[in-house]
Amino acid sequence: MATSLSYLNTCPPADFVQALHGIYEHSPWIPERAASARPFATLAALKQALQAAVTNASADEQLGLIRAHPELAGKAAIAGRLTAESTSEQAKSGLNQCSPEEFATLQQLNADYNAKFGFPFILAVKGPTGQGLTRQAIIATFARRLKNARGAEVAECLRQIHRIAEMRLNDLLGVQLAYGPAIMQWAEELAQWSDDADGLTCAYMTDAHRKTAARLAEWMREAGMQVTIDAVGNVVGRYPSDVPGAKTLITGSHYDTVRNGGKYDGRQGILLPLAIVRDLHARGEKLPFHLEVIGFAEEEGVRYRSTFLGSNAVTGRFDVSLLDAVDADGVTMRAALQAAGHDTNAIAGIARNADDVLAYVEVHIEQGPVLLERGLPLGVVTAIAGSSRYLVELTGVASHAGTTPMAMRKDAAAAAAEIVLLVEQRCGRQPALVGTVGQLAVPNGSVNVVPGACRLSLDIRAAEDAVRLAAVKDVLDGIAAICTRRGIEYALEPIVQAPAAPCAPWLMDQLGAAVERSGLPRFDLLSGAGHDAMAMAALTDVAMLFTRCGNGGISHNPLETMTADDADIAATVLLDFLRRFTRR
Ligand code: HGY
Ligand code: MN
Ligand code: MN
Repeated sequence: MATSLSYLNTCPPADFVQALHGIYEHSPWIPERAASARPFATLAALKQALQAAVTNASADEQLGLIRAHPELAGKAAIAGRLTAESTSEQAKSGLNQCSPEEFATLQQLNADYNAKFGFPFILAVKGPTGQGLTRQAIIATFARRLKNARGAEVAECLRQIHRIAEMRLNDLLGVQLAYGPAIMQWAEELAQWSDDADGLTCAYMTDAHRKTAARLAEWMREAGMQVTIDAVGNVVGRYPSDVPGAKTLITGSHYDTVRNGGKYDGRQGILLPLAIVRDLHARGEKLPFHLEVIGFAEEEGVRYRSTFLGSNAVTGRFDVSLLDAVDADGVTMRAALQAAGHDTNAIAGIARNADDVLAYVEVHIEQGPVLLERGLPLGVVTAIAGSSRYLVELTGVASHAGTTPMAMRKDAAAAAAEIVLLVEQRCGRQPALVGTVGQLAVPNGSVNVVPGACRLSLDIRAAEDAVRLAAVKDVLDGIAAICTRRGIEYALEPIVQAPAAPCAPWLMDQLGAAVERSGLPRFDLLSGAGHDAMAMAALTDVAMLFTRCGNGGISHNPLETMTADDADIAATVLLDFLRRFTRR
């Protein structure tokens, strides 16, 4: 039975509880406690109030809520004792059509999970889009989460229960998401093009990269934008204003990915404004400024190690010496661009005139657990941490593993091991300082040869540049000391020095106000991840809107996930921000 938010806001408390009896399985105490927070300005506010009733409940009440749920394809399902909601949800993901092997696997997982945690495994089986997870994905998630600690699983089960409640509320209120499903579908479609057979890798100017650019351009045109692909591969959609002398507000993000990356890192920040412009165009609604949606061609630095190629070209800071950089196959960036039909002489012309640009606002997944743990779909970014990246080449002496006495070795890998621990120790000293050795390799190593060479990468980041630079100095000094003591030669190649980029408070406030108008609390947070907004800060004031990441906040990983509902409310907030945007 469909109902409405206004009914829920005005009906007697008992009717409110009754109307919501199917939202949280067998737990009327949750709407009972949320009723006093009425009226709710939006559905998002209602969801937050129901969540808060659970968050503020006792641990026993929370466990009781978890235990009120049936197992997946478990005893209750077999006995036909599921609630109507659970029955349809488990059917949506085909859990009532398990093969004997799948059924046996699920029974075993249910037994192991219950034995370990003492409550049933909870998963919103309708998944990120509400269309249903596959049985394979359900079983994989079950097996992965079985390894978690109890506390993490209590928290994740509660989050899954809130996700189930969100989708049940959508059904109850007849919610039709205006933007989220398209954004998720487009992200799925772009993920078909990858440099690798397994997983999503979309490196600069590869065939997959160019096909992705072409599809983005096609969608932008269909959405009513004037579209160009510029000389470094940025896909630029322009939604012009009718206002004479209008300036330009820029949004967007990158469409390249890390190796075996996620579908939403960068791409959500292009697809979300694309969905908004498609809607504006369909309504014939123009904005008082030109809106540029840019799919930046290269942010991750996978193929040519340098980062922000696309956004640096837009700000006029593209380093033309990079055109001579070679990839792992010896192909120069210039050759790769020319093979794609680009004119490298036109790169300088990409630079925007700062006087024409009002601001840059980027929507991006958080790539961390903060919003997830707070139960918030959106966050306003305060600053983007600065980062220093290096490649380190260690040279020792390759020698016989059997005959070389330990004290006579110049073992490059052993030196690298000390460096990895040095980075971990030094960067573990302060909050908002992180250090990572993401690449570590013994080129052409053999089991029976003491490593004569070892390559590793350094990635050191901090919210404050002074903190980062002090850590970099200590790590580089430490590398010198380790190599001197071990008789190892080393070479350092700096590849990124990106200062921290503060977001502009006047933009943050307008974004934050739009978040609050959606019924959500404004929540500000630092970005540990780098983004094109860092580069765009050289041209104009910047701000970022973060969206929640599922699966513990994981990113740069195929497990990266988000929901259509979060994409939808982010798009609603960005559209509201654009409609009410006031110049500085
Ligand atoms: O590495 C980063 O922070 C970004 O995802 N490129
Ligand atoms: Mn990334
Ligand atoms: Mn990114």
